[in-house]
Amino acid sequence: MENIGRGNFGSKIGAVLAAAGSAIGLGNVWRFPYETGANGGAAFLVLYLACVIIIGIPLMVAEFAVGRRSRANNFRAFPLLGATGLWKYVGFLCVLTGWLILCYYVVVQGWTIEYVISSGANGLANKTPDDYTADFSSFISNPVKPLIYVFLSIGITLGVVLMGVQKGIERASKVMMPMLFIFILVLVGCSLSLPGAMKGVEFLLNPDFSKVTASTYLAAMGQAFFSLSIGMGCLCTYASYFPKEANLFGNAFNIAGIDTLIAILSGLIIFPAAYSVGIEPGAGPSLVFITLPNVFYQAFGSIPWLAYMFSLMFYLLLAMAALTSAISLLEPATLLIHEETHLRRRWSALLATAPVLLFGVACSLSMGIWDEYKLFGMNLFDLFDFTTAKIMLPLGGLFTALFVGWKMDKKALLSEISNQRTLPQWLIRIYYSLIKVILPLAIIAIFLNELGVFSL
Ligand code: PHE
Repeated sequence: MENIGRGNFGSKIGAVLAAAGSAIGLGNVWRFPYETGANGGAAFLVLYLACVIIIGIPLMVAEFAVGRRSRANNFRAFPLLGATGLWKYVGFLCVLTGWLILCYYVVVQGWTIEYVISSGANGLANKTPDDYTADFSSFISNPVKPLIYVFLSIGITLGVVLMGVQKGIERASKVMMPMLFIFILVLVGCSLSLPGAMKGVEFLLNPDFSKVTASTYLAAMGQAFFSLSIGMGCLCTYASYFPKEANLFGNAFNIAGIDTLIAILSGLIIFPAAYSVGIEPGAGPSLVFITLPNVFYQAFGSIPWLAYMFSLMFYLLLAMAALTSAISLLEPATLLIHEETHLRRRWSALLATAPVLLFGVACSLSMGIWDEYKLFGMNLFDLFDFTTAKIMLPLGGLFTALFVGWKMDKKALLSEISNQRTLPQWLIRIYYSLIKVILPLAIIAIFLNELGVFSL
């Protein structure tokens, strides 16, 4: 992998699968349920879906177009397509955001590894719902253990990026993503069969718009950006490896569709189970780690080996899904350093990783012994999450949309998105109006709404 040249991925669908692997991760199974829980349930889901359709899919296509057209890292891509002045730095802003996300993503990735290990050692069996809550809190506030997992997560992510993304990730994604999907379906069934489960379904599917506040809009938009991996240069970077004939619209629809489906299904696992065992749906980042063991051991309580197998397999797949996303967060920064400084790829990856270690450790400690240090009422972990997902990603997306809509050469854009002129004119027209006007206005409106300038 010394030569990162173009064509990193072995097969045609490899690059596209990797983009799907980037999108599907902790954002779906961990972040979506807790954001939905904290923001009132179904009404949040409606706003989230609107953001995916109006903002998410068009932006994904825009990032794909920039990446495939320029066939360069994100920093170089924009100038190559004609960006001048401040526009040149849009790509850099996006890569920086992704890199900052990685700093706290590795913390949660570490939690998934802990749950793989503790499932494997049968440490989740024979416990009450209160035990799961207590175990999780004592784990994340422990000053040493989670740090070991931060190191481990970073090590594994770096290892894969260094070894080369092609074969491993490609092959693994092809097998594991469908497996994860099947597991999720089975777990939805289990969760729905728990007593009192319907209250959870209602929470997720029956919207109560009186619960919508200004910050619900921002949260829904942030979640759409986070979950679809947009606004941080990763899709752009991956698209620089896409084959010429890849259908950008088709891929964006498929990836967004699968990603959203997995998020909703995750909600259908978590909320029925949470209501069934009396856990608050607004419990925050711990939600998934407390409710899931409950689902396994309550649903299969009478067949302990099945519960054991299920929890082990599920956390393993979740850890894998987190890994494919973490790689996609490290790759753009690595590629940028490598192509811009001509340092070897190995050194570039190490350089991109070293500060992640520092911030990762700090974010992890902020969930425990450093929890009292707060800025704007948030600990470091929450602050990283808030600033990146709710401010930087949407800003990166806004600038990308404005650039693609107003600055990029129209012919170049058309030749990328028109799928060898097979895309109907009306769709292209809708796309132009979305990317030029509607999408930027929507992002700005959500920001202004949050600031209280006006109310949506
Ligand atoms: N989309 C990934 C997830 O859902 C996380 C991610 C965010 C990956 C931003 C890349 C960029 O977990």
